[in-house]
Amino acid sequence: MNSLAAQSEPQPAFPIPAGVFAERVTAVRHFTDTLFSFRITRPQSFRFRTGEFVMIGLPNAEKPVFRAYSIASPSWDEELEFFSIKVPNGPLTEHLQKIAVGDTVLMRKKSTGTLVLDALIPGKRLFLFSTGTGIAPFAGVVRDPETYEKFDQVILTQTCRSQAELRYGRDLVEEARSDELMSEFIGDKLLFHTSATREGETRGHRITTLIENGQLFEALQIPPLDPATDRAMICGSMAMLKDTEKLLDARGFEEGANNKPGTYVVERAFVD
Ligand code: A2P
Repeated sequence: MNSLAAQSEPQPAFPIPAGVFAERVTAVRHFTDTLFSFRITRPQSFRFRTGEFVMIGLPNAEKPVFRAYSIASPSWDEELEFFSIKVPNGPLTEHLQKIAVGDTVLMRKKSTGTLVLDALIPGKRLFLFSTGTGIAPFAGVVRDPETYEKFDQVILTQTCRSQAELRYGRDLVEEARSDELMSEFIGDKLLFHTSATREGETRGHRITTLIENGQLFEALQIPPLDPATDRAMICGSMAMLKDTEKLLDARGFEEGANNKPGTYVVERAFVD
């Protein structure tokens, strides 16, 4: 029996470095040539706040390459989910995109980050602005009951180049809304807006454009941004963060941090 078990669970070729968890891949899903998601087992002792990120690596070298990944799971999840791009010749993603169920993924033991509810002062509406894989931390936030305890309305936006790239977010919201447990706390509080900027009717509809010309609020039939009632989290490319921050600053929002909560918080979507 022992030898059979050993055969079906191949050991990593390199020793596991100190200070990291070695976890098993439980699911992998490919969306496009450039996007995939995966889930790993959750170490019993691992605690994190919804919206935080961890360092992820593979046991494929003496000194593995680690990259920051937002945890796409809410803090109650029994497993840990991640949403990743595939970078051709990317030091980690080139290999990570080939993982299969049963493989080992390394994870450093400490999580951190600013896209957490604690870094925002109380408010009524929570805007979650994302582009590309920037939706990952918000996949945790929109599945966390605490989000709906703290806010009356949660507005998630995702902008990608193509419709196919919006699949992860669409499935996430659909599953969350129809899940027996989650639908109880989500109710009708969660709004979701998507646009594909290089395809079809939404061509050119960057989130920044839609905020500026008001189309975002018209489409969702909600009042425009107001720092008195609204809080925001932003996650995307550097350029997207800069442009969205500018819009929020101009409307009287102030950036917050863990040690100084504010009306919005920001984090770069990491792997590039
Ligand atoms: P666009 O197609 O107009 O460049 P990327 O794949 O380059 O990270 O882009 C992901 C999404 O983010 C795309 O829809 C892209 O729109 C959009 N985007 C890129 N830069 C910005 C920006 N500065 N502000 C808002 N959206 C942006």
